[in-house]
Amino acid sequence: MTAEATPASVLGAFDGATVRSGGVVARMDRDGAGRFRMTFSRDGGATRSVTVARTVGSHRYQQYLAKVAGTYWRLPVAWHVEERRWFPMTGAFLFSDDRETSAVGRPVFGGGVFDRHVTRWNDNCVFCHNVGPNPRLDTVTGGFDTTTAELGIACEACHGPGAAHVRANADPFRRLWLWARDTSDPTIVNPARLSPARAADVCGRCHGQRLAADVGPFMAHGDPFVPGDDLALTTEPLWRDTPLAGARAAFAPRFWADGTPRLTAYEYQGLLQSRCAQEGSLTCTTCHGMHEGEPRGQLRAGLRGTAADRMCTRCHTTLADGAAAARHTHHEAASAGARCVGCHMPRVVYGVLDVHRSHRIEVPDPARAAAAGRPDACTGCHAGETPVWAARMRARLWGGKAPRVPETPGPLEALFSGDSVTRAVSADALGREQVPLGPGARAARVGALLEAMAGDDYPAVRHLAWRALGRLGGDAAGYDPSADGRARRAAVVRLSARPGGGGTKPAPEVVARLRARAVGEDVEIGE
Ligand code: HEC
Ligand code: HEC
Ligand code: HEC
Ligand code: HEC
Ligand code: HEC
Ligand code: HEC
Ligand code: HEC
Repeated sequence: MTAEATPASVLGAFDGATVRSGGVVARMDRDGAGRFRMTFSRDGGATRSVTVARTVGSHRYQQYLAKVAGTYWRLPVAWHVEERRWFPMTGAFLFSDDRETSAVGRPVFGGGVFDRHVTRWNDNCVFCHNVGPNPRLDTVTGGFDTTTAELGIACEACHGPGAAHVRANADPFRRLWLWARDTSDPTIVNPARLSPARAADVCGRCHGQRLAADVGPFMAHGDPFVPGDDLALTTEPLWRDTPLAGARAAFAPRFWADGTPRLTAYEYQGLLQSRCAQEGSLTCTTCHGMHEGEPRGQLRAGLRGTAADRMCTRCHTTLADGAAAARHTHHEAASAGARCVGCHMPRVVYGVLDVHRSHRIEVPDPARAAAAGRPDACTGCHAGETPVWAARMRARLWGGKAPRVPETPGPLEALFSGDSVTRAVSADALGREQVPLGPGARAARVGALLEAMAGDDYPAVRHLAWRALGRLGGDAAGYDPSADGRARRAAVVRLSARPGGGGTKPAPEVVARLRARAVGEDVEIGE
């Protein structure tokens, strides 16, 4: 997760590749001594070269740190591991293209908007991406002398300090004795033997954004939490109305209006909000395995496909029976629509350039979701429909009176009218073919995604729309979500003009609209 920059840890192509964004060109290559280097030049202005000191991440994307005056800073360009491409960090978070933040107290690399996510590692990233984080802030000088027990997320992050364990078990007779008695070893923490709440705390340290009443000691002496502790003794999880310097709205944008988290690294909060954990023994490792299963999603082995329902039916045993489950879900047993997580853990959470499942397990209720301005589970799959349709169908299938739902847009329109997380969730939903699509429905989705790729102000939303287009089988080559408006719109016109197989071509009026906009801007389409 975090490593010194070496040929083994660096995944990005430092081969002279360039990224252009916000008036800056970044070039990634090696210097004379073979060190990884990034060079930033602003059009007609200054050039700055820095050596990459550390890497963070290896799975979805990798970020890079440079050491400037003794502290580590996140650089403004990252490498997308799956897409094998460089992208500016302005494209990773949900911000518009042109929102700048103050550069006071930060080094300048490319400058301006381009540098918006230049962030200090020592008192931020260190806490969730390493073992034994200790910023060691010197309150007199303001400098850092940061230490970790180990860079990255290693054994002690979840098992606690292990030195005594290693010492004790150097003795083979002790090992034999422990093995023969099948007992727990008091010199190390095994999360499987903790109570569900304490086990969740092990994960919540990094997967539940939190706040200490007094951050001073954390900065000077490090995070005191060790696995097995009660996390609440040192920090409180952030909630929608947690005040920051007296302001109650400071963290509100990270949650839906009903308090459900909508960004990643809040899975812990979702769990705490679920009745399965409040009234049952649900904990993270009921579903996730840290030493088994696939790395992607890290679910316990064998919990894929229809077997995924075992995550739930181990407790909700009455629904383990196929006939009872079919009566409950009103969807064909083998279809995606019959999976418990489809309705009870919908994809409404944004993070790391992807949309994830909510960890607040609850009853799907389109009317309540619409009232909270939140996407609902049903239209997450039935993406061509609206919450009004979903509420009516819910009442028809599960019974009850159809509630009055205000005319709320479904994903096809929310892609243009919603706030940034809603747009991201909508783009993702439109690219998932959960319900079989006819050619007309597919063309409508393709058209909407192309329009978002051309016009959305947020590069991360455009990125998700672009990926969604590819998932629908649409031609997506030659588009860069972080390119400037004119280049992007020209690329979209070219894509919409190419022949699309299997209904992946947008309606003629959409093509005409995209083209008119591009021509109006005098964009070079170059067909
Ligand atoms: C509150 C804890 C927390 C802090 C602070 C934090 N992260 Fe993360 N980060 C996470 C979690 C949790 C994930 C995984 C999210 C997911 O997969 O949905 C993650 C994912 C990532 C990834 C993707 C990893 C991969 O292998 O694909 C990178 C890169 C990353 N973070 C870098 C950073 C950097 C750089 C900083 C500091 C500027 C930082 N993070 C601060 C918790 C945190
Ligand atoms: C991200 C958290 C995490 C990390 C990192 C981690 N573990 Fe674990 N480990 C767990 C959890 C949770 C369990 C409990 C197993 C379960 O619930 O299935 C466990 C169980 C174990 C067990 C007991 C297995 C058993 O069959 O009872 C051993 C031994 C172990 N881990 C060793 C390690 C070692 C060695 C490392 C480092 C190489 C490591 N773990 C890293 C979370 C972690
Ligand atoms: C020291 C901080 C830390 C601890 C402790 C920790 N995690 Fe993570 N976890 C992360 C980060 C950072 C990532 C992102 C890494 C990546 O995507 O490769 C991650 C990734 C994951 C993922 C996969 C995310 C993906 O995008 O596929 C799951 C699932 C997960 N953690 C669950 C857990 C559980 C369950 C526990 C407790 C047993 C736990 N983690 C403990 C920091 C932590
Ligand atoms: C460790 C046991 C356990 C597991 C595993 C579990 N639950 Fe629950 N769940 C409970 C308990 C206990 C309740 C509260 C009493 C009840 O309704 O049965 C509950 C309540 C619920 C509710 C009602 C929520 C509300 O707000 O009224 C839903 C829906 C639900 N669970 C769905 C699921 C789904 C879906 C899964 C799998 C993704 C799951 N549960 C996994 C124990 C569990
Ligand atoms: C009831 C089962 C369940 C519980 C409990 C649970 N998760 Fe998950 N989690 C899932 C499922 C299902 C996914 C989606 C995995 C996928 O699609 O690959 C997921 C995804 C994630 C991801 C993002 C990975 C991705 O690919 O989207 C992280 C991070 C994560 N869980 C962490 C946690 C943590 C931390 C806890 C405890 C606070 C927890 N989970 C509790 C079922 C669960
Ligand atoms: C297609 C959507 C859908 C799927 C799939 C689904 N549920 Fe539900 N679930 C609902 C709805 C809707 C309700 C509310 C029912 C009501 O109000 O009568 C509900 C309610 C529940 C409840 C609350 C208790 C109750 O019966 O009112 C539990 C527990 C539950 N579901 C568990 C599960 C489990 C376990 C699975 C997988 C086997 C599952 N659900 C699959 C839609 C779904
Ligand atoms: C994970 C994806 C998924 C979710 C979530 C989902 N569905 Fe479905 N739905 C499907 C699929 C696939 C079909 C077609 C196959 C079938 O009938 O199971 C379908 C079929 C239907 C149908 C009949 C065909 C039609 O389109 O008119 C209705 C009505 C319906 N779903 C309503 C709902 C409602 C209401 C919810 C929310 C409570 C919901 N669905 C949640 C995937 C989903």
